[in-house]
Amino acid sequence: MKPNRVKLAVFLLAVTATTPMPAQNGAAIYKSKCQMCHMADGSGNKAMKVPAFSPGASEASLIAITKKGISPRMPAYAGKLTDAQMKSVAAYIKTLK
Ligand code: HEC
Repeated sequence: MKPNRVKLAVFLLAVTATTPMPAQNGAAIYKSKCQMCHMADGSGNKAMKVPAFSPGASEASLIAITKKGISPRMPAYAGKLTDAQMKSVAAYIKTLK
């Protein structure tokens, strides 16, 4: 490789390794952990009597609910997801409405 190519490769690696992609992570977490109850559009699984997400909920309150859950049907994710993962999934939920 020519030196410039090497520099470019190193640069691209650094960019992909350090660029945060919260929305995409949040989408992946939502699909694997939340979607079966909350549905892809956040409208809630009617058969399971899951309500739609309240419009206008702040990211902080979404994170708080995700962490603690709502007894007995909404699971608590404290210890299952990291704070950063809950933040990105909350940010993703905000994009649903
Ligand atoms: C097993 C089904 C189930 C799964 C999985 C689930 N939830 Fe829920 N969730 C519920 C139910 C049921 C409620 C409503 C609870 C109530 O009000 O009693 C709820 C409520 C919520 C609320 C409050 C909604 C509002 O606006 O009032 C948030 C936020 C939420 N869930 C986030 C999540 C996130 C984020 C995930 C994935 C990490 C998730 N939930 C996974 C069943 C689930």
